[in-house]
Amino acid sequence: MALNTEKKVSEAINYRRSVRNFKVDPIDVEKVKECIHLATLAATSSNMQLWEFYHIVSPEILAPLAKASFDQGAAKTAQQMVVIVARKDLWRKRMQSNIAFLKWQYGNKPEADYSKREKFAMNYYKKIIPSIYSDFLGILGMIKFIAFQIIGIFRPIYRQARQSDMRIVAHKSAGLAAQNFMISMSAINYDTCPMEGFDSLRVKKILNLPSSSEINMIIGCGIREENGVYGARFRVPFEEVYYKI
Ligand SMILES: Cc1cc2nc3c(=O)[nH]c(=O)nc-3n(C[C@H](O)[C@H](O)[C@H](O)COP(=O)(O)O)c2cc1C
Repeated sequence: MALNTEKKVSEAINYRRSVRNFKVDPIDVEKVKECIHLATLAATSSNMQLWEFYHIVSPEILAPLAKASFDQGAAKTAQQMVVIVARKDLWRKRMQSNIAFLKWQYGNKPEADYSKREKFAMNYYKKIIPSIYSDFLGILGMIKFIAFQIIGIFRPIYRQARQSDMRIVAHKSAGLAAQNFMISMSAINYDTCPMEGFDSLRVKKILNLPSSSEINMIIGCGIREENGVYGARFRVPFEEVYYKI
């Protein structure tokens, strides 16, 4: 479903600012939901989609969430909130979903009839993904990490396979989804503020999330008050971050 009267991508990117004071005017739950749907179309590492999106519309949950977010303006005045959760712990389930999708895409034919490319993709989810994601208390990850460093002396190899590396992998993709969401909101004149200033343990308790999940970001949503943006946009000079090689 396309959103009506959307801005151009560059306009939406320019319009997006972190808003710390939202109007009391409500925003449309369905439109925000559609922006969350667009968030799920973000690029994601190995298409593993190790994320979940909690769309908070109930005042009974918004209030404790704002408190767990230190009552900062972007949380206290938000009309709705979106909590993006990184779910590295769901890797087996997502791997199975990818395998099921591939089988369906291949027309459920016997494996012997797979083309070279089909075999490679299936092998990726059946063998490579488990070899990267499987871990036991961080020990297996560390062993893999050391082994990969040694193999890496002789040939290029994927080096980041520790527990902490895989957390980053999940958070990277969740961050891309967050940006997709904020740009989609901006395109329809809705405002957002991404937040990492919160008590993650309390947030997980409020949302009934397992300890194995990790809060990636809480995004306050609403429409900006006139004083909602705290100042002119500041970015370090482009030349300081742009390297043409
Ligand atoms: C991961 C992340 C966490 C952030 N956490 C907070 C936060 O807790 N509270 C807040 O007011 N702003 C937060 N921000 C907003 C940044 O301060 C803001 O993006 C930055 O100052 C640039 O301003 P702009 O978003 O208006 O361009 C966060 C932004 C990101 C990307």
